[in-house]
Amino acid sequence: MIHATLHQLKVFEATARHGSFTRAAEELYLTQPTVSIQVKQLTKAVGLPLFEQIGKRLFLTQAGQKLLETCQGIFEGLSQFEMAVSDMKGMKQGQLRLAVITTAKYFVPRLLGPFCQRYPGIDISLKVTNHQHIQERMANNEDDLYILSQPPEQPELKIHPFLENPLVVLAPKSHPLVGQSNIPISALDHESFIMREPGSGTRQAVQKLLKVHKVDVKVRLELGSNEAIKQAIAGGLGISVLSQHTIISEGTTGEFAILDVEHFPIERHWYVTHLAGKQLSVVAESFLQYLMEESHELAEKFLPNLGRDSLKQQLARKTVSGAA
Ligand code: PGA
Repeated sequence: MIHATLHQLKVFEATARHGSFTRAAEELYLTQPTVSIQVKQLTKAVGLPLFEQIGKRLFLTQAGQKLLETCQGIFEGLSQFEMAVSDMKGMKQGQLRLAVITTAKYFVPRLLGPFCQRYPGIDISLKVTNHQHIQERMANNEDDLYILSQPPEQPELKIHPFLENPLVVLAPKSHPLVGQSNIPISALDHESFIMREPGSGTRQAVQKLLKVHKVDVKVRLELGSNEAIKQAIAGGLGISVLSQHTIISEGTTGEFAILDVEHFPIERHWYVTHLAGKQLSVVAESFLQYLMEESHELAEKFLPNLGRDSLKQQLARKTVSGAA
């Protein structure tokens, strides 16, 4: 192994991650034969096969799996070192890998703006996806920090709550229930419902509440995006339950109303989390601190209508415009 180069380890890591020479070559801007030669040389240095090819796909052998874990440790260590050196030089530099649930995409970029201005040397990768995919990313240790509203029990996490993320019943403004107070939850029984996809935390929270109250909504449409659901509501296809954040920052299009249904809003929070055993990079540590210190101030600026009190006021005004 003493003859293996860092470059070979990089090539091996990408091949293992993709399970394909071709995809690794694309990622690293190399040719496919270069990738397979590098892996061959590394295999020779190790003295055991690293991959098994079954059909078109490559699978790691036991030695390959061990080497992959070693590579990840080496790269993590090197990037920590790089950041520590930048920090010693007095300038925060490096990469911040964030994965956030779909509703956080409405707010996190606003947080990132001032953070990047403060530390211009930081590169950010931001992945927006649903709860299930976030959990998969956690299992593979793909990111530094995760923002979500329903932290899973596994893997073990360090969890910091930071802002409210209530779920509200959204209907088109022309819906007959708009303006009524304290609508019994059983009234949802008769409504055409638009539901998020399996794997969505929103869907899980809604289904749990409906189950507790034995409400069996007619799911007319299942959609994998909050924005698509909003369009479907506006198009009169039905009502849905979404995070209040999904309607917080758009202009006064006036297309939606929040229905005052009992047991709603479902009160939830956003949490910023990281794997309990993970040594956070200097950059991730700084972002976590920044988020905890600044998010409330930024929320007051960008999310003036968030929260229970504000919802009550809006409902008291009978209808809520799209800018609510
Ligand atoms: P989801 O999460 O995209 O998994 O539904 C959104 C939320 O919980 O706010």
